[in-house]
Amino acid sequence: MTQQPYPGSEFPSIPGEPLNLEPIEKALLKMCYGVHVIGSATRAGERNLMIADWVMQVSFKPRLVAASIENNARTLRFMRETEAFSINLLHERDGHEIARKVVMPAEGKKIKGRSEAAAAIIHDKLEGLAHHLTSEGTPVLEEALGWFSCTVEQFIETGDHTLVIGRVIDGDVTRSGDILTEKELGWEYAG
Ligand SMILES: Cc1cc2nc3c(=O)[nH]c(=O)nc-3n(C[C@H](O)[C@H](O)[C@H](O)COP(=O)(O)O)c2cc1C
Repeated sequence: MTQQPYPGSEFPSIPGEPLNLEPIEKALLKMCYGVHVIGSATRAGERNLMIADWVMQVSFKPRLVAASIENNARTLRFMRETEAFSINLLHERDGHEIARKVVMPAEGKKIKGRSEAAAAIIHDKLEGLAHHLTSEGTPVLEEALGWFSCTVEQFIETGDHTLVIGRVIDGDVTRSGDILTEKELGWEYAG
């Protein structure tokens, strides 16, 4: 049976994706996420930022959070090296501006079709974004709604992602307001 396209008002437009969604995809796209930016660092002081929807609290005592990170993300390599990461909560009012600045992968080679020269470029996603570093050396964005600093408790390989369980060692809310949701942002990561 041919599926009918779903109207753009009901389902997000995903650039490059067909309008015909599988029923499972359709249901998965109904799940609701906030928009976070994961900060990471190497021992040598290289730093990175990446957008992640798939972040949640998973324990009260101790306070643990889980972030599901693509196996080929530079962020995951940095998290494995220093066993630390930060979580920045994007602000509903202007978080989309930060999202636009950090959406691309740091490594040019992750983007299909790039020339050899472009593939070799490492993009510094922190450039032009006011930030400070946690005691673990991971970046916290000045314009975030709030942030957490985490140390890694566990890496759990799960399909094409790795679930990183972090112990929350510090955190705060630095602006009034609420978190930007993926629905407001208009870019979906599900399906
Ligand atoms: C709205 C949105 C949400 C995303 N959520 C996740 C996520 O939860 N986990 C993940 O691994 N990648 C997620 N991504 C994709 C990563 O942000 C993307 O692969 C990023 O380039 C990885 O960065 P890095 O390779 O520089 O570490 C998301 C992308 C967008 C646009």
